[in-house]
Amino acid sequence: MLNVLFVCLGNICRSPMAEAVLRDKIVKEGLEQQISVDSAGTGDWHIGKPPHEGTRRMLDRYGISYKGMAARRVGSEDFRQFDYIICMDNSNGANVRKVSGGEEAKLMYFMDLLPEESLREVPDPYFTGNFEEVYELVDAGCGVLLDKLKRELS
Ligand code: 4NP
Repeated sequence: MLNVLFVCLGNICRSPMAEAVLRDKIVKEGLEQQISVDSAGTGDWHIGKPPHEGTRRMLDRYGISYKGMAARRVGSEDFRQFDYIICMDNSNGANVRKVSGGEEAKLMYFMDLLPEESLREVPDPYFTGNFEEVYELVDAGCGVLLDKLKRELS
């Protein structure tokens, strides 16, 4: 079993979008027993809240479920449970590193999945309002990630 955690700031826009998109791909390939996915935020403002309306709009458009998803905060215990902790921007990474307890090797940056993109961080749509741009990056990056995970499983 491989366990993946996406992390952003509020856990209502970017990381829940990535969680839902990757889970959708996992389900479509019948890999639910081999790969699990979750998301969390470094901030505590939105704990317990469902994904942001803009994220829900994109997921609805593509027929992707976000049922039951609720924001939570990342913690040091996540470094025991997860194999990959994938941060959406550099600030998220710096904050997650503070709770890592020396397990930085599990940390990754989402845009490292898309080395050909000039953007090196996933822009925060809470501030830009551009959820379409984030969806395109998230969908492409999750495709690359799933291929990588499948190679590890084989
Ligand atoms: P996210 O976006 O990190 O992609 O979930 C944000 C959501 C909320 C806030 C900031 C970013 N906020 O400041 O409340």
